Amino acid sequence: MKRAFVTGITGQDGSYLTELLLAKGYEVHGLVRRSSTFNRGRIEPLYLNAKGEKVPLYLHYGDLSDSGNLFALLRKIDPQEVYNLGAQSHVKVSFETPEYTSDVNAIGTVRLLEAIRQLDLDARFYQASSSELYGKTSALKQDESTPFHPRSPYGFAKLMAYWATVNYRESYGMFASNGILFNHESPRRGEGFVTRKITISLARILAGLDKELRLGNLDAKRDWGFAGDFTELIWRILQHKEADDFVIATGETHSVREFLQEAFSYKGLDWQKYVKIDPAYMRPAEVDYLCGDSAKAQRLLGWTPKVKFKELVRMMVDADIKELQSKPMARQISPNP
Ligand code: NAP
Ligand code: GDD
Repeated sequence: MKRAFVTGITGQDGSYLTELLLAKGYEVHGLVRRSSTFNRGRIEPLYLNAKGEKVPLYLHYGDLSDSGNLFALLRKIDPQEVYNLGAQSHVKVSFETPEYTSDVNAIGTVRLLEAIRQLDLDARFYQASSSELYGKTSALKQDESTPFHPRSPYGFAKLMAYWATVNYRESYGMFASNGILFNHESPRRGEGFVTRKITISLARILAGLDKELRLGNLDAKRDWGFAGDFTELIWRILQHKEADDFVIATGETHSVREFLQEAFSYKGLDWQKYVKIDPAYMRPAEVDYLCGDSAKAQRLLGWTPKVKFKELVRMMVDADIKELQSKPMARQISPNP
């Protein structure tokens, strides 16, 4: 049985990847942070299989800022695959916490790579790189050769992590690969990201709980895919015959305004009656436009994105309406970044 070590297992991608790895017969070890509130809601449904039996899923306390902890865990688990999905993943928050974001997202990656190297583990390493690396780009489509120009502490920390991964591959012959993933969303998306903020808010407006939705820049364009589709690729990147870097994207781009239009019109509402622009949600520097070219991944990894924009929006709207109906008292939305 193959053993995988997953950082960020409690996050959106961590939960989809864990589901996939368990279905493929892996023993999965996940890094979890101690928290004063419950942070395992996304993976809790995975603890038992369809027959009600316990699955080989093991959680270990730790943090990407703690080298000793990462060394000890990697030594004990001795995984064949390491997926580094853990990160302070919110771009706007990174402007307020640049040092912490750099420590976790950049140095945290080096800590893992260095532990694998020093322990001489025979492990393949996946780094969750991001389309935020392209930042202020003028390329109409971004691929593996497009120059990087990050626009936030999140972006420059991920840039260092990207190059650390490439350098450990080139210097030490490690199997270390980057997935440069464009935005991907799902009903499990964190509530502070714009798509989920919109679909939760729409559900609340429909239920009569809210009257308005406060947002920042509606002109930004993103290449939004489905997280369930993209995590399949994360796994395929580590099964490829050699370590390499791959762009994962749908190749379609839409503005935040178009997302609003699609979501609200699906439920027969005019978004313009509810949305207020609030400078609190603007960023010191913005990434205006992203649209990925994943031809290399499609060619070498045999993949095409399945879920399209409209289907993704509707899936998220329907899921939030259903969730609100099932737990109306639990859903107290807090001010989001
Ligand atoms: P997410 O939902 O925000 O999950 C982030 C995960 O990282 C959570 O499990 C979180 O733990 C964990 N984490 C945060 N700080 C940590 C620390 N100091 N030590 C250990 N773990 C820590 O993010 P996601 O959307 O699943 O994204 C997964 C990865 O892909 C991230 O690295 C992100 O930057 C990158 N990425 C995401 C996208 C996207 O569109 N989703 C696109 C490109 C790249 P808690 O649950 O305890 O907070
Ligand atoms: N979060 C948020 N909240 N974003 C808003 C809001 C708001 O109220 N109003 C407008 N936006 C705009 C942001 O300014 C940005 O241009 C766009 O919506 C998308 O913002 P997010 O959903 O926060 O995602 P992101 O693109 O900044 O970052 C996500 O995708 C990256 C990949 O490109 C994150 O998942 C990153 O971790 C990931 O690397």
